Amino acid sequence: MTSIPNETASNTATMPAASALTAAALKEAIRLRTSRRSYTSKPIEAAAADRLNQCIARINESTVGRIRFRLITGEPKAFSSILKTYGLFSGVHSYIVASGLKDDVMAQQLIGYYGEQLVLTATAMGLGSCWVGATCDKSPAMGELDPNGQIYCLITLGYAREKASLGEKLVHAAISQKRPEKESLIDNPEQTRLPRWFMDGINAVRLAPSARNRLPVHFSLKRGIVSAWADKNGGYENIDLGIAKLHFELGADYIFYDLRKSLYIK
Ligand SMILES: Cc1cc2nc3c(=O)[nH]c(=O)nc-3n(C[C@H](O)[C@H](O)[C@H](O)COP(=O)(O)O)c2cc1C
Repeated sequence: MTSIPNETASNTATMPAASALTAAALKEAIRLRTSRRSYTSKPIEAAAADRLNQCIARINESTVGRIRFRLITGEPKAFSSILKTYGLFSGVHSYIVASGLKDDVMAQQLIGYYGEQLVLTATAMGLGSCWVGATCDKSPAMGELDPNGQIYCLITLGYAREKASLGEKLVHAAISQKRPEKESLIDNPEQTRLPRWFMDGINAVRLAPSARNRLPVHFSLKRGIVSAWADKNGGYENIDLGIAKLHFELGADYIFYDLRKSLYIK
């Protein structure tokens, strides 16, 4: 298992309170992560599950009822129906349920942002993962869902099989694995030479997961302030945007004011 650096005083100023890893470890995980859909039967190690549960508890507390994550282990039903999963997944027995207030745009962004923190934390601990909005059965994950709540995604977790399964090969063939060019992610209204830190952020965004691999997000720099927005993507655009904002923050060492109510702006 990859060793996990502990949180340090120096990174707490710029890293979200919910993260249990250093910014450097999460940044490294961006490079290592890729969606995995085929898993071994090995249960998630207790230390890894504990760490994820600690992160989840902190996220749930800090987002005060707007979003809620829950780690479920040893539950194969959500991914066992061929009809619902199209046979894309195999061996899934553990996942995170990502729920939040119904039809709430900020809840969706927060789910993307904090869910991706959990994904990168899991990656750093040697776990495979995949965000899943559509190709699963969410009913076994309903649990004690709040009446105003909605399950937006499940995030599969587990030890990925070394070799890609047929399902994974099919997904790779069906979804273009070509990452969007940097230019499509940048809006540069001032036509200025963009600083190195901004481009580092864009490079990290380029590696972000997104629904149908569309990465519908755009980032601009105006008078030193970064703005980000997303085009429609089948209802997943705000989750995609939250994920992309986290990647940007980690890549550029920049903090988004709207997500964090922090005035740290580069
Ligand atoms: C919000 C969201 C929803 C997704 N839903 C699904 C899904 O229903 N089924 C699936 O197989 N993959 C799903 N994915 C995974 C994407 O297909 C994957 O992230 C994308 O193809 C990029 O590949 P990568 O994650 O390996 O970089 C989803 C990703 C996101 C961010």
